[in-house]
Amino acid sequence: TRIDKAGHKHFMAKEIAEQPAVIGEALSRYLTADGEIMLPDPGLDFTKIDRITMVACGTAFYACLTAKYWFEQIARMPVEVDVASEFRYREPPISDRTMALFVSQSGETADTLAALRYCAGKADLITSVVNVTESSIARESNLALPIHAGVEVGVASTKAFTCQLTVLFLMVLKAAVDRGAITKEELADYVSGLRSMPSLINTALEQNAALRDEAYKLSSARDVLFLGRGAMFPLALEGALKLKEISYIHAEAYASGELKHGPIALIDENVPVVVMAPNDTLFDKTVSNMQEVMARKGKVILISDRAGLDEAAEGTWGQIEMPPVADALAPILYAIPAQLLAYHTAIAKGTDVDQPRNLAKSVTVE
Ligand code: G6P
Repeated sequence: TRIDKAGHKHFMAKEIAEQPAVIGEALSRYLTADGEIMLPDPGLDFTKIDRITMVACGTAFYACLTAKYWFEQIARMPVEVDVASEFRYREPPISDRTMALFVSQSGETADTLAALRYCAGKADLITSVVNVTESSIARESNLALPIHAGVEVGVASTKAFTCQLTVLFLMVLKAAVDRGAITKEELADYVSGLRSMPSLINTALEQNAALRDEAYKLSSARDVLFLGRGAMFPLALEGALKLKEISYIHAEAYASGELKHGPIALIDENVPVVVMAPNDTLFDKTVSNMQEVMARKGKVILISDRAGLDEAAEGTWGQIEMPPVADALAPILYAIPAQLLAYHTAIAKGTDVDQPRNLAKSVTVE
């Protein structure tokens, strides 16, 4: 089937807008009407594994980093994450009762595939989370979980990322149930949180014009810093990656608490700092990091919810309001402003949004 832009200016815009629908689709494939998690056969049994090694590249790697926070906090399982190009040559020992988990939109990334082949015969189980189900990575896995994002054309991954997060979150819930780490009520809460994601994302998409205004301010910057804490740190990394991929502005992300160990030296009135901070249990800590930035004349764009903005927006350079969301699920929702900021910055700079220079959609050579 021919894929067109469906009235959008770019595939990236179309794919950003599709997220409520494709996440809804992924949820309908993995959840029964009464909120039980169904995984394709052979079903995963998390009582048989003690640890998970996750490997990926690019945006898929940041999905893995986010899932590490979830697996550890919610399912109480230890997780290691690495980029495939490092993992494959490091000769990491794989201990017993380990699941190796590979995340890839295309299922053809050469380094990720090589890492999978390294684990074959060593790990107890090879699992993958893929978009292209006929891919090499899917075929060579014991179990491949499709993300149901539909074809993604834009080189900068958007809907595949949030669908990867959605499917990874479902795996985390399955692990938590199998291992008795959460109660029935907690499971029901998480599932209803997931089910509200499509509508929350629609609300986030309504901030498009506000994000475009912030993006125009960012477009004259040479460097941009992204900050986040907890599971919002991998999302800050993803926000920085999106911005550099399509706008060519140098962007870096730091865990907020690490700011004082180096990057604060860079802060002056020329460095915009994007702070991704829902009003969660770590909010006050992030706010104090943000105030350190503002005390050095750094220009902060704060992305938070109403309660967070009421508490901390004073003196910031820009504010973006997200709807309130369950703490654990914030990385999925806050992906939307990260994507739209990068998108509009690229438009403001006149770069080729769907085909950025020097990048390929799928890197099948080393
Ligand atoms: C390339 C793409 C990225 C993608 C990465 C991993 O760098 O430009 O958008 O995240 O490859 O691709 P995969 O298909 O393995 O997810």
